[in-house]
Amino acid sequence: MSIDDRDFRPVIAAFCCNWCSYAGADLAGSSRMKYPAEVKIIRVPCSCRVNPMFILRTFEKGADGVILCGCHPGDCHYSTGNYYTRRRMASLISLMEFVGLERGRVRVEWVSAAEGAKFAETMNEFVEHIRALGKNTRLEDLRCKN
Ligand code: FES
Repeated sequence: MSIDDRDFRPVIAAFCCNWCSYAGADLAGSSRMKYPAEVKIIRVPCSCRVNPMFILRTFEKGADGVILCGCHPGDCHYSTGNYYTRRRMASLISLMEFVGLERGRVRVEWVSAAEGAKFAETMNEFVEHIRALGKNTRLEDLRCKN
């Protein structure tokens, strides 16, 4: 591992649904649980609001990893939103290698409003995983550099 590898600070986008995962992130913060500052939270009304194209666009814009968090199956505020998410994300993950990305760069996790510890633990683990994978250079749109 070179010095550059150790200094690598991945850019992580975390899409969190408003009703559970964002509240879980909030709980982690208010309970003073630590998770890396590299995680940039994007609040969405429901996990199903995240079109898989948003995720590919996030990689084009320079993200090294994307995590999508929603309510546990059966607990979605909109009843079935996360069932749509689960299917869409399964399709996206199976297409990842086809578009030139490692599968591990995208993750889906169900985090409830009471699971602040799980949120922090998941983010710590995911950042370490992306750090081990290294920088995303395959899908990065160089036009977004400026
Ligand atoms: Fe959380 Fe739908 S509101 S996944």
